[in-house]
Amino acid sequence: MRYKILTYGCQMNVHESEKIAGLLDGMGGVPAEEGESADVIVFNTCCIRDNAERRALGNIGVVKGEKKKHPDLIIAVCGCMTQQEGAAAVIRERYPYVDIVLGTRNIFLLPQEIDKVKAARAAIKKRSDKRYRAFETAYPEEYLSLDERTPVTRTSFPNAWVNIIYGCNNFCTYCIVPYVRGRELSRPMSSVLDEVKKAVDEGYGEVTLLGQNVNSYGHDLTGGESFEKLLRAIDGIEGKFRVRFMTSHPKDLTDGVIDAMASSDKICSNIHLPVQSGSDKVLKDMNRRYTRERYLSLIEKLRAAMPDIGITTDVMVGFPTETEEDFLATTELVKTVRFSNAFTFVYSPRKGTPAAEMPQIPYAVKRRRIGELIKLQNSVTKELSEDYVGNVYEVLAEDVSPKHEGMLCGRTESGRLATFPASAERIGEFLKVRVTEARSASLFGRLED
Ligand code: SAH
Ligand code: SF4
Ligand code: F3S
Repeated sequence: MRYKILTYGCQMNVHESEKIAGLLDGMGGVPAEEGESADVIVFNTCCIRDNAERRALGNIGVVKGEKKKHPDLIIAVCGCMTQQEGAAAVIRERYPYVDIVLGTRNIFLLPQEIDKVKAARAAIKKRSDKRYRAFETAYPEEYLSLDERTPVTRTSFPNAWVNIIYGCNNFCTYCIVPYVRGRELSRPMSSVLDEVKKAVDEGYGEVTLLGQNVNSYGHDLTGGESFEKLLRAIDGIEGKFRVRFMTSHPKDLTDGVIDAMASSDKICSNIHLPVQSGSDKVLKDMNRRYTRERYLSLIEKLRAAMPDIGITTDVMVGFPTETEEDFLATTELVKTVRFSNAFTFVYSPRKGTPAAEMPQIPYAVKRRRIGELIKLQNSVTKELSEDYVGNVYEVLAEDVSPKHEGMLCGRTESGRLATFPASAERIGEFLKVRVTEARSASLFGRLED
C-alpha cells in the first residue's frame, strides 16, 4: 500500500500528518515516491482562511482524474476543514469519489476506515455524515487515551514536534479554530516528558512544543501543572537539545514562563507572540483580551530577561472594525517592537464566527494595507539581519538548502535561518556558523574552525 499525505495549515497539522503516517506505516504502508501513483491519498486540511480552504479543495478536485485511472485508489479527507458545520455533507456532495471523511479528533480511526472501504467500497456511501464528526464520537478522556497510543512516524528530523495541548477556548471573534478543534485538552505532563526524552534519545536536537495556546497548558489538569512547570521539567531532561514552542497567547504569558525561558539551558530565546493588531479598539473587538500597552510591556520584559531574544508575530489587517487610524496604530507598533519576522494576513471571514457577521471592509483597502505592512516589516527584517553579520552562532543543521546546492540550512537559537556550505551528513549536528552576509530575511555564513 503506497500512500501520499498532503498537508495544509499549521505545525499542528504537520505533526498530525506524522501520526497519519504512523498509522499507515502500521498497516504495512510505505510513502509513494515522487511521481509514483498511490493507493491511498490523505488530505489533511486547513480552513483558517479562505485561500487555505480553496487550495485543499482544488487539489481534492484534481485527484478525480487519478481515481478514474486507478479505481482502487482510496481518498481520505481529514483535518480542520471537515469539522466545520455541514462540511462533511458538502464534501460528499461535491466530491462523491472521496471515500473517507474524518475529523480532527478521530484520525486514529483511519486504518479501520481504510479496511472497511477495502472490504466493501459501496457500503461507505450509506453512512450518515454524523458518523464522522469527531466531537460527537470521541470524549476527551477517550480521545487522549487513543491519542497516546497513536504511532508517530516523524518526518521533520532533527526537529521533533510534541503536542502539549489540543483545542482552543479563546474564541477570538475572527477565528474558526475553536469550532473545528474543540475545547482545550492538556496531555498529562508525564506523557509529554516521556515523548521528549524518547525523541532526545533518538537523536533529535530540537523539540517544538505545540498548542494553539501553549500558555494555558495544565489548567484542565488536577496536579497544579502549568506551562512554566512543564518548561522547567523539560529543561531538566539530560542531553544536548533545544526547545521551542508555539503558539503563545499574550494574555496568558506569565512572568514565570519568561523566567523559566531565561534561566534555562535548553529553552531557546525565541518566541512567537501573535499581536494581531496595534489598536486597543480592534483588539477588543477581536476578543484578544490584552491591550497594546500590555503587549508592549511583555516585549520589554522578554527583552530585559533575554537581550538576544528573537520575537516573531502574526499581524492581521482588514478586520471589519479596522479604520485607517487603527491600521496606523498597527504599523506604529510594528515599528516600535521591531519583530525579527511577522506573518501577515488579510482578514478572511469565516462562516459561523462573530466577525463574519459584521460589515466588511472593501478588498482594495485590505490589499493596500497588507502591502504597506509587508513593505514595512521587510525593511525591519533586513535591518535586523545586518546585526548578525560578523558574529558566530550555534546553529542546528536542519536540512539541505532548497535553493543552494552543497549548502545546509539551520536556525540560530533566536530562530533565524542561516545557510552555509556543509555536507548532508552533518544534518542534526550543532555547528558553529559565522554569518558573513545578510540578504533580507536570509543569513549566509560559513563553518567556523
Ligand atoms: N492560536 C494562535 C493562532 C492560530 S491561527 C494564536 O492565537 O496566536 C494563526 C494566525 O492566523 C493567527 O494568529 C491569525 O493572525 C491568523 N488568522 C486566524 N484567523 C484568521 C482569519 N479569519 N483571517 C485571517 N487571518 C486569520
Ligand atoms: Fe484562534 Fe484566538 Fe484560539 Fe488562536 S487563541 S486559535 S487566534 S481563537
Ligand atoms: Fe488551519 Fe486547523 Fe491549523 S484551521 S491553521 S490547520 S488548527
